[in-house]
Amino acid sequence: MNPLALVTGASDGIGLEFCRLLAARGYDLILVARRQSLLEDIATQLTLRHAIRCHVIPCDLSLPQAAETVFGEVRQRGLSVDLLINNAGLLFNGFFHELPLRQQESLLAVNVVALTSLCHLFVNDMAERGGGQILNLASLAAWTPIPNQNVYAASKAYVLAFSLALADEMKAAGSGVHVCALCPGYTRTAMLDNPAQGGKLALPGFLLHSAEDVAREGLDACLAGRTVCMPGAANRLGAVATRLLPRLWQAKVMGRGYRLLQG
Ligand SMILES: NC(=O)c1ccc[n+]([C@@H]2O[C@H](COP(=O)([O-])OP(=O)(O)OC[C@H]3O[C@@H](n4cnc5c(N)ncnc54)[C@H](OP(=O)(O)O)[C@@H]3O)[C@@H](O)[C@H]2O)c1
Repeated sequence: MNPLALVTGASDGIGLEFCRLLAARGYDLILVARRQSLLEDIATQLTLRHAIRCHVIPCDLSLPQAAETVFGEVRQRGLSVDLLINNAGLLFNGFFHELPLRQQESLLAVNVVALTSLCHLFVNDMAERGGGQILNLASLAAWTPIPNQNVYAASKAYVLAFSLALADEMKAAGSGVHVCALCPGYTRTAMLDNPAQGGKLALPGFLLHSAEDVAREGLDACLAGRTVCMPGAANRLGAVATRLLPRLWQAKVMGRGYRLLQG
């Protein structure tokens, strides 16, 4: 029987690349996102190309109890998840006080609440079965405060800290569950050019990674038992360099930079 992976945000960007890579490696898949017809097309393509099984669970992860809905659906279909990839995420660029409150709340609901709840539900399920793997999408943004991507960066700082602590807890508990945080830098996806999410950042091309490379590096790191993965040497250098600055200066420097990028 094939191992089974559940990928949130499977309809686009890095999530879609995870699905393609996993299908090529013989994983069956559960695809979760809001756009059901897109997920069904992806499921059909991957099933035909790789002779795997694909299940589609359309779900808006910003809604209350969304994680329980997904978990309940997985149970009802008699499926057991070996690898959970918490990839769905939202980003809004702009001044915190100008961005609508509802947007910030939906960001927190998807990036923080749904991710945490899915970890809780699946970690228990995996531990009962003797093990499993969880890959959480943090970001390079997790490592510093970022004015004008304020709530996004703070949500990713949460994901990183939560994942590191959870990885340690799972090991200490002898659960057999491994947790890894993936911290990509700028990646060429719709997220960086989405008018509904605050528009485009003027990023130089050399800073951009491909979604496929990011997904491959993250997946390999997780399956190899690593706890953190930051694709790209320049990103690793940038993260170390900014952390050498005092915290207050980090915010000032990043704020200047982001306001320039946002025009
Ligand atoms: N791109 C980057 O530069 C970058 C850098 C660092 C980290 N990341 C992180 O990587 C992850 C993937 O980002 P990406 O760049 O691939 O983004 P993307 O291309 O915008 O894709 C986002 C995915 O999340 C899903 N999604 C959004 N809101 C949702 C909701 N309310 N409920 C369920 N699914 C939802 C979307 O599907 P539907 O619209 O069909 O729901 C889509 O499949 C995110 O966590 C992001 O923060 C990205």
